[in-house]
Amino acid sequence: MRRKLSGAVLCASSLLLTLAARPAEFPRSATLQATLDRTGTRVSRRSPRTVEVTLTAAPARLSLVPGSQTDVFAYNGQVPGPTLEAFEGDTVVVHFINQLPEPTSVHWHGLHIPFDMDGSPFHPIASGDSHDYIFTIGAGTAGTYWYHPHPGHNTGHQVAMGLYGAFVVRAVDDPLPASLPERVLILSDNRFGPDGSIDLPARDSHEGRIDAENGREGNVLFVNGRILPTIEIRSGEVQRWRIVNASAARVYRLALGGQTFLHIGSDGGLFERPVEVREITIANAERVELLVRGSGKPGERVMLQALPYDRYIPQTRPSDWNQPRDLLTLQYSSAAPVEAPLIPAMLRPVPAIDTSQATARRVMVLTQGFINGNPMDMKRVDVSAALGATEIWEIENLVGMDHPFHLHGFRFQILDRNGVPEPFRQWKDVVNVPKHESARFIVRYDDYPGKWMFHCHILAHEDQGMMGVLEIR
Ligand code: C2O
Ligand code: CU
Ligand code: CU
Repeated sequence: MRRKLSGAVLCASSLLLTLAARPAEFPRSATLQATLDRTGTRVSRRSPRTVEVTLTAAPARLSLVPGSQTDVFAYNGQVPGPTLEAFEGDTVVVHFINQLPEPTSVHWHGLHIPFDMDGSPFHPIASGDSHDYIFTIGAGTAGTYWYHPHPGHNTGHQVAMGLYGAFVVRAVDDPLPASLPERVLILSDNRFGPDGSIDLPARDSHEGRIDAENGREGNVLFVNGRILPTIEIRSGEVQRWRIVNASAARVYRLALGGQTFLHIGSDGGLFERPVEVREITIANAERVELLVRGSGKPGERVMLQALPYDRYIPQTRPSDWNQPRDLLTLQYSSAAPVEAPLIPAMLRPVPAIDTSQATARRVMVLTQGFINGNPMDMKRVDVSAALGATEIWEIENLVGMDHPFHLHGFRFQILDRNGVPEPFRQWKDVVNVPKHESARFIVRYDDYPGKWMFHCHILAHEDQGMMGVLEIR
């Protein structure tokens, strides 16, 4: 098979469209510039466009680890797939072609779009078929999303083979200075055989059973498909990082030397105010937006690390779980420091969903592989509700490992975790529920009727059927 280096040529009906180059190259985004006028001021008006791209899933052979070639599944020949970008209000048209030897689908994780465009197990695309995903990006939904396959019982396999990519939604009235250099960082991990092949053990093998329990982790950590890449920063500079955890099971507890981050957003975009943190935990399928301030001196370097995070059942906890892992090097250039830009104290309003409007409370009890004691059945509806209804969900984890809980179609706001009120409002579509803990969120089923999945986002658990169906009528 031929190795394709760049993204395939994509048809663009909009200048503002981007399928950015392989994100591993950390390009300065051409898109950002498109929103600036010649003097560098942000353009405050922009009419919606159509972002039209072709996305092909196909086998490919790439070099992922030094010294070997690996048979993968890739979107447009790349692992990760190209980063898609659109603005709020844009219509997105994705001509998807399935050249895999098996059925797949493309799920637009976190996006609020119609049921038949959700790419869930209800809408598989057969090998050799194509499908146009067409949807409009809602106002107020700017944030960092991602896309991945979602065929029944086979998501973990296809993501392990290389199918995942980022989807950035921008707001014309983004409150942060447009001059901040931006990076999209997609975190993933994988395991390889000595010949460079992706290690996917049989389900009934010892490793297969550990993967089924823990979720599949790999000993090789990637940022945008690269091992330990370097990002340059200048002293004084502030960078905006959008981080996607595309791992099947690994949770990253991120720290950058002793430096603090400004945590500015999560799954569904910006918070109302930045929050200063020393470390940040990002469970699988979650996203964060951070400001990294170049507080070091010219020539210095710091490592972005994943610190130990114990999400495991003791019996299957990996022996090296307590080792910090290096993810990337932040290298300060030798250039003289620049003056730090001003960061607004107020980012955007995150209006509260009114708890007094809630018409039902749902309890979801998580046990190993089950939600409320049931394995998933596509023919069963687990929860049904009226379009426009507001509900409170309580997720209770009864077992000794973390389960990140995800709802399709509708973003939610976490009310409390273990009864402790959430310190600030944020739009979420995944909430990690640690071992023996609970969380409550509030959700309003706006706009789109249909059948929506909710599930544990540890892909092995999801594939075993730790998933249910919410029907909105
Ligand atoms: Cu990331 Cu059901 O999805
Ligand atoms: Cu999803
Ligand atoms: Cu789980």
